[in-house]
Amino acid sequence: MAIFLDTGNIEEIKKYHKMGIIRGVTTNPTILLKDGVTGGMAAVKAHTIEMAKLIAPLPLSVEVTSNDKEEMIVQAKEMAGWAKNINVKITVHGPNGELDNMEVIHELETKHDIRVNVTAMMSAQQCLLAAMAGATYVSIFGGRVNNMGYNVIEEIEKIRDLIDNFGLKAEIIVGSTREVLNIVEWLNAGAHIVTAVPKLIEGMLVHPYTKETVQMFLEDAAKGEKA
Ligand code: E4P
Repeated sequence: MAIFLDTGNIEEIKKYHKMGIIRGVTTNPTILLKDGVTGGMAAVKAHTIEMAKLIAPLPLSVEVTSNDKEEMIVQAKEMAGWAKNINVKITVHGPNGELDNMEVIHELETKHDIRVNVTAMMSAQQCLLAAMAGATYVSIFGGRVNNMGYNVIEEIEKIRDLIDNFGLKAEIIVGSTREVLNIVEWLNAGAHIVTAVPKLIEGMLVHPYTKETVQMFLEDAAKGEKA
């Protein structure tokens, strides 16, 4: 089991990596844009190489920026060449349900020795097929599933059973964290990995009653020194 950081922010990566808490980092084009990475593929490359170096040998997931079949393969090969610890994210299908993506996933894993993180999935059945195509990671978006009115915990339990029973190599990443409690509840449900946004990791650690208790220790230590 592991916690990854879902961010493109270098300072947040440094902060949690130094603590020894995280076992990988995930990004996507939306996260990179939010974290100020603009300027096309050249900017994505420079930023990705910086992130990959920071956490090496831990894995970093970076997403292709096209849904054209040939272009996805070209980009995936290029991205995987930037650093040894880079995994390439491919969405399970295109914006109109295009199925080329599954072929791309299979080809990258079996012919090009590229580790693929199949992303933007909302159900156990999508994850099963992505895992069967050879994916190294299958990413289900917990917060988005919950926002549709379903409890992602049931999907996590189903996909974990299926992956174990089929003897598939894929590891389940649950992303799209929204609440502090998501991290432990999704790991307990069977996720191999939960990728959490930085503020939720801080929320797991910092407790108001711990603050009050530490304050008491410090004040009493000071009193003891003066007495
Ligand atoms: C996971 O790998 C994704 O980067 C991410 O968690 C998506 O989350 P969102 O629903 O907040 O966009």
